[in-house]
Amino acid sequence: MTIAAKKKDLAGSLYDFEEIKLSEKTFEKFATKMYDLAGVDLPFTPKNHALIRNRIVKLLRRHDLRTYEEYWAMLERGDNTLIQEFISALTTNMTSFYRESNHFDFMAKVMPELMAKHGPELRVWCAAASTGQEPYTLAMTVCESLPEAQASRVRLLATDIDLQVLKKASVGTYEEREMQGLPPVQRTKYFEKTKVNGDEYFRAKDQIHKMIRFAPFNLMNPKYEFQHKFHMIFCRNVLIYFDEATTKKVIDNLVSCLAPGAYLVLGHSESGNVKHPSLKPLSRAVYQKI
Ligand SMILES: C[S@@+](CC[C@H](N)C(=O)[O-])C[C@H]1O[C@@H](n2cnc3c(N)ncnc32)[C@H](O)[C@@H]1O
Repeated sequence: MTIAAKKKDLAGSLYDFEEIKLSEKTFEKFATKMYDLAGVDLPFTPKNHALIRNRIVKLLRRHDLRTYEEYWAMLERGDNTLIQEFISALTTNMTSFYRESNHFDFMAKVMPELMAKHGPELRVWCAAASTGQEPYTLAMTVCESLPEAQASRVRLLATDIDLQVLKKASVGTYEEREMQGLPPVQRTKYFEKTKVNGDEYFRAKDQIHKMIRFAPFNLMNPKYEFQHKFHMIFCRNVLIYFDEATTKKVIDNLVSCLAPGAYLVLGHSESGNVKHPSLKPLSRAVYQKI
């Protein structure tokens, strides 16, 4: 038993959180709840059992609870803050700057053409923005591919279901290890060093920060209602967590939000799931609405 795994209980003895059992029945309750809330599909496998256990044990510690059943009861009684915390614990937020970089080469290539066809205002939606590296990459790509006056007329919307990562994204401040994938030239041009409690961080400069609006959005919403259509939608590396039926609904909704001729970009490993009569595949995980 590691020291970190122990906690003194009220009687003063050491309590080992690592030894608390997560039964299959309680696992199913958590998995079903996550599916209903976020569409994230977690069938009962040893890997998913370990995932839920390792993530929820942190919440047991935080709330000073001794069993998963106690946590479940609290969640069932709980308010939106507890639900948000649960969603946040069970989402996977891995991301990086310029991840699957051919998508940004593609974007740089089509931005002038989109501006000519649909301008002067363009709208781009990053639909699973996580901690923000993806929408800031989109903003940098816009700045690199359009003259300044046009770039300033591109509206970027960055959304995620997880409010914790969304908050971090909206602040736009990163540790060195989170800057992975960002080339040195872009790092200097679009980020500035800042200190928080004596530690060094990199903060997105105003030029890209002010281009993005951050908002919560659940891809499980039955209908996506936006005032205007989008010219590009990036919805990458999130469909992998959904089952086939959910993926189909999400794709239908995303397509309904695209302007004719606009582009949908998914994660590299997600393109196998997509067959839609209005989508023409162009290159790896890139589609155009016809
Ligand atoms: C692995 S990250 C991908 C981040 C980024 N798109 C990328 O490709 O680097 C998946 C993100 O999807 C979000 N997510 C999961 N379920 C969601 C849902 N139902 N609605 C919106 N976002 C969701 C998670 O919170 C997480 O931040």
